[in-house]
Amino acid sequence: MRKPIIAGNWKMHKTVSEALELCERLDRAVQDTDAEVVVCPPFTALSAVCGLGMSKVKIGAQNLSTAESGAYTGEISPVMLVDVCCSYVIIGHSERRQLFGETDEMVNQKVQLALKHHLRPIVCVGETLEQRRADQTEAVVVSQTKAAFAGVSKERAPEIVVAYEPIWAIGTGETASAEDANAVIGTIRKTLAEIYDQETADQIRIQYGGSVKPSNIKELMAQPEIDGVLVGGASLDFDDFTAIVRYNE
Ligand code: PGA
Repeated sequence: MRKPIIAGNWKMHKTVSEALELCERLDRAVQDTDAEVVVCPPFTALSAVCGLGMSKVKIGAQNLSTAESGAYTGEISPVMLVDVCCSYVIIGHSERRQLFGETDEMVNQKVQLALKHHLRPIVCVGETLEQRRADQTEAVVVSQTKAAFAGVSKERAPEIVVAYEPIWAIGTGETASAEDANAVIGTIRKTLAEIYDQETADQIRIQYGGSVKPSNIKELMAQPEIDGVLVGGASLDFDDFTAIVRYNE
């Protein structure tokens, strides 16, 4: 049985005081929920939020360097993320791939480095609108998935969470239909079964992301292959994110 995982990607939003306020309220409001709950504030708020010592909500970062330490101005290493208290890190978000030139190879380096430091990667994969129209969705997610898991052992693979995020659904208000998202996620799981075996693939959690909101969460979570969601915009609002986390009430 895969434990559902609901993660909030705050992107470049919230000051330290805003982050503290939201986390304090959130940790109280979601104590008794079954799902694992993760928030990914910007780097500047991580230390303060870790200082809250939240008992239910876990902390993730939105990115990490491909290196452990050294002359890499502006980069953040996994050692630093573990040092503050992060247990998760988002890797290969489409904004990083599209705006900051992250390649499949870099994504794989980051996955390996995160695992080495016992940070759980949330690896994002997903197609553009053009790729979807050209019927390339499957090919894109299969190749991104294979690249991300390259060199990862069968024993460590279940520590990775995959987030299927069709790029055309991110921040647009458009969501993939729940059935569609379920089908693509099924393809990702099939790919993982080919790389490892069915038993391993069945342990790996795969989220959907892209315009998730209180009004569509139930339908998404009702799909057999969808193990959780990665939420952008709606994770910035206490009421919306709490409603998403408490989707089964
Ligand atoms: P959105 O973003 O929920 O605002 O569409 C999702 C994401 O980018 O992870």
